[in-house]
Amino acid sequence: CGIVGYVGSSEALPILATGLKNLEYRGYDSAGIALADGDGIEVHKQAGEIDDLELPSNSPETIGVGHTRWSTHGEPTDANAHPHVDCTGDVAVVHNGIIENYATLRDELERSGHEFTSETDTEVVPHLVEEELEGGASLPEAVEAVVERLHGSYALGVVTPEYDGIVATRRGSPLVVGHGDTGNFIASDVTAFLEHTRRVSYIEDGDIAYVTADDVVVEQDGQRVERAVETVEWEAEAAEKGGYEHYMLKEIHEQPTALRQAISGRLDELHGDVDLDIELPEEYLQSLEEIQIVACGTSYHAGMVAAQLFEEHASVRTSVEIASEYEFQGGRDPWRTLVVAVTQSGETADTLSALRKANRSGARTLAVTNTVGSTATREADHTLYIRAGPEIGVAATKTFASQVATLTLLSVYLGRHRSELGSSRASDVLASVRNLPGAVQQALDAESQVLEVAETYVDSDAFFFIGRELGYPVALEGALKLKEISYDHAEGFAAGELKHGPLALVTPNTPTLAVLTEGTRSKETLNNVKEVESRGSPVVGCSSLEDGGLLDAAFDVPEIGVMEPLVANVYLQLFAYHVANLKGRPIDKPRNLAKSVTVE
Ligand code: G6P
Repeated sequence: CGIVGYVGSSEALPILATGLKNLEYRGYDSAGIALADGDGIEVHKQAGEIDDLELPSNSPETIGVGHTRWSTHGEPTDANAHPHVDCTGDVAVVHNGIIENYATLRDELERSGHEFTSETDTEVVPHLVEEELEGGASLPEAVEAVVERLHGSYALGVVTPEYDGIVATRRGSPLVVGHGDTGNFIASDVTAFLEHTRRVSYIEDGDIAYVTADDVVVEQDGQRVERAVETVEWEAEAAEKGGYEHYMLKEIHEQPTALRQAISGRLDELHGDVDLDIELPEEYLQSLEEIQIVACGTSYHAGMVAAQLFEEHASVRTSVEIASEYEFQGGRDPWRTLVVAVTQSGETADTLSALRKANRSGARTLAVTNTVGSTATREADHTLYIRAGPEIGVAATKTFASQVATLTLLSVYLGRHRSELGSSRASDVLASVRNLPGAVQQALDAESQVLEVAETYVDSDAFFFIGRELGYPVALEGALKLKEISYDHAEGFAAGELKHGPLALVTPNTPTLAVLTEGTRSKETLNNVKEVESRGSPVVGCSSLEDGGLLDAAFDVPEIGVMEPLVANVYLQLFAYHVANLKGRPIDKPRNLAKSVTVE
């Protein structure tokens, strides 16, 4: 869900409405806007699409906040949509995150006569602010007092008729301030207001920002603090669809560019070295005993690829853990452990929670992310950017490619610093990475073939994906993409596991997609291909093998060495896209899913 707010000399309504559209990509089920002027607050909110939100044709107010909601407490209904107001209707609040102690606060407020109109945790906030205002506090004083009472995570924007701006604060949820020429902004991310200003400051946990038309004052513990104003480099056009039917397809096609950005200036193929601009002490790298990767969703699959490469190139024991399952176990030496949080958004609550556990344990932490200034970058000891550019489609595509490429470079960095990877082997790996953008382009150029195969199998009962070694995470990712956007039953398996159960699901109407490239023990996987074929299942291979004779269809993967599985993944992305598109699914906004899940 997303927040946007504006205060300035222009009409707030159109700015907020566009801001909400810009935030659509984060996923939402309801939306709303509150406008404030000296006389009162006007709220427009409802469940459903932003385009269906009933708004006045114009409105003179110059202060307001907007919100897109992705339900956590309470169904997606009009009443549960934000902004929420107090009993007087004069305090409006937008909120991201979860107020964990809302039930206690609500009981207390109800006992003292407050009436609630929604089932949300958020609604306690305007009522608490109302109490403080009635006690004689100003809005800034009221918000300062209220946040003391909140447990959980939040980014909040509050407006009232009396205050000539927005009071905003955060703890554990993202919040940025935009400094414009005709006013100032708040938002959960910069895309909300990028067409108005590129000058932003990142608000930190515990900060309270007083944002008025011509000033932004930030305080922490009652003391004024300076938060640097940075310039965002992303072009607004980079966040638009640019000719493609869906953001996802555009982003699949952006992969050669995204990969070039990820590796640019980082490869020294001649010496088998990389320059990643991370300062991990030499001594620490030498004595490192264990790496733990924590991540969710697609980032978890990138982490699975990385784990194998870290072990192989740097000889360091590596586990990859689903962030929501992560605990720092006893028996490990935190001083010799590196915890790598892989998260494109840098805001996934589960991953941040794992990162915090690692920080508390005393382990050194590294965030691998796409988002400059995100919470993960501020909480981890070190940051490595994947430089994929903004990704709008809910289903992650180019960020996966950039994650894998960047993590591959990290495996070389670790291997070289630990003296476990010789320069010539390192050069081979780097050559494969350098050849990746071109190889991905070749796969993209074969899109019409993927479309044909998608047309052949679109009506199947289910889809299975198999692979070994680096092909296994790619199989999982292929299945995840397909289920996310087509709603078909799709599952990825380690190819060797088929015979231990999943084979019972195989029929002539369940095609199998196999990863048959370098780094995937493809010869052995071919035995599994035979197993499913003999049960009548058609098999589509993403293959760099000479002989694709067994396969019903084969997508050619150019021979580029260790990075070949990532090219296979591009074919699987295109396959998922075309199956979903043939079914007319809302590809950029699949049902029930959000781009960035900021709740645990
Ligand atoms: C959500 C998205 C997934 C993504 C996952 C992790 O579930 O829908 O596409 O892989 O979050 O996101 P992160 O930003 O941490 O990589």
